[in-house]
Amino acid sequence: MKINAMKEKYFIKTYGCQMNVYDSHRMAMMLEDMGYEKTDKQADADFVLFNTCHIREKAAEKLFSDLGRALLIKNERSERGLDTVIGVAGCVVQAEDEQIFKRAPYVDFALGPLTYHRLPEILKKIKQKKQSGILDTDFPCESKFDFLPENKATGGCSFLAVQEGCNNFCTYCVVPYTRGVEYSRPVKDVIDEAKNLIATGTLEINLLGQNVNSYHGEDEKGVERNLAYLLNKMAELDGLKRLRYTTSYPADVDDDLIKCHHDIDILMPYLHLPVQSGSNKILKLMNRRHSAETYLEKIAKLREANPNLRFSSDFIVGFPFETDEDFEKTLDLVDKVKYIQAFSFKYSRRPGTPAAEMDGQVPEKIKKERLDILQAKLFDLQEKFNKSCIGQSFDVLFEQKGRHKGQLIGRTPYMQNVHVHAADDMMGKILKVKISDATTNSLQGEVI
Ligand code: SAH
Ligand code: SF4
Ligand code: F3S
Repeated sequence: MKINAMKEKYFIKTYGCQMNVYDSHRMAMMLEDMGYEKTDKQADADFVLFNTCHIREKAAEKLFSDLGRALLIKNERSERGLDTVIGVAGCVVQAEDEQIFKRAPYVDFALGPLTYHRLPEILKKIKQKKQSGILDTDFPCESKFDFLPENKATGGCSFLAVQEGCNNFCTYCVVPYTRGVEYSRPVKDVIDEAKNLIATGTLEINLLGQNVNSYHGEDEKGVERNLAYLLNKMAELDGLKRLRYTTSYPADVDDDLIKCHHDIDILMPYLHLPVQSGSNKILKLMNRRHSAETYLEKIAKLREANPNLRFSSDFIVGFPFETDEDFEKTLDLVDKVKYIQAFSFKYSRRPGTPAAEMDGQVPEKIKKERLDILQAKLFDLQEKFNKSCIGQSFDVLFEQKGRHKGQLIGRTPYMQNVHVHAADDMMGKILKVKISDATTNSLQGEVI
């Protein structure tokens, strides 16, 4: 019998933001160190983990329907004499606490986003049948990053968390409650992790934080450094070809950071800068520290620093008290910035956040109408930008196999997906591609 056949298997489903994708990757690495092997088939997994998101109501509810399905699979495996451990991690755990066990008593453990370094220890306890129903939603004094094994790349693009938590308390948002107060990792830890990622095949690193441009990690002398300093340090690393950072809070975009977009050639010309709304009245109710005007000033300065820079954003429609007039202001702002990509959402009332208690809640029907109008505009801009790329050549970093044989999918500097005929061994590499066709969601091209 092959040794592999005896390895226990894990399956991870990830919901939510890029930070969750990063966290799932770190948990997967820990499991592999413990001798587990990855599977994409939930029914084959001895350990099933849901890494959850609480940002909107739908995201959280999806977990409970997936858990219901996981129980059916667990029972079916049990009939075959197979054990299944079910774990839940991430922001829903932090927000729902024991509610998870009340609604899904068959869950073996639940870990908050700041305690997942304890996963190996908890799994061992469960496997030895010493304990079940373990809940760990501490905001621990220690940093989980000090306890995680070295990070390794699994492809040409990697995320690297440099900052976690948020002190901004936008009135609609659960993140300050689920991820806690802002914490920045020391500069050296970030650089060491980046070196490991590059040594194991990464060409592109995306520095992550819920509020990444408030980064203030210490250097080796104990001096607090900002994100601009960190980006410059990253740019000195041999072998790194592309650098990105996300997500930025507009009010915290400072001149040092803007200068990076002029000075650092590996910093990609694409910036996600969520505005949420174009109406100053709504921005104030949201407790955002920018107005439409100050946001547009930042955009102008960034464009001056690098005229090739293009932008994406997040929008919320139907926030309490949003009138047609407020919504028009959002549409105006979109026209001014001409985003090349964007995410837009209907406002979702999150328990415990100030906006959930506000009068002036907008009816669902109006939210939907506004979302449809906004999305039509955003998709139109996205398609226009994509079509303007036809005939141009871009460096494309290949990240995944396409649906058809001999096809790979990669990304341009502007985060557009490009479908290209290329050999499998081009995965994780950067090649020049000439764009031959474009739709709203993707490009087609040929390697030149
Ligand atoms: N830290 C980032 C993003 C956090 S969450 C920032 O400051 O922008 C990602 C996006 O989800 C937000 O930008 C916002 O557009 C959306 N979002 C957050 N809470 C929401 C809610 N209650 N309803 C609808 N969308 C929400
Ligand atoms: Fe949430 Fe606002 Fe913090 Fe972003 S800045 S994570 S939207 S509270
Ligand atoms: Fe969701 Fe938590 Fe990220 S709520 S968006 S997974 S920080």
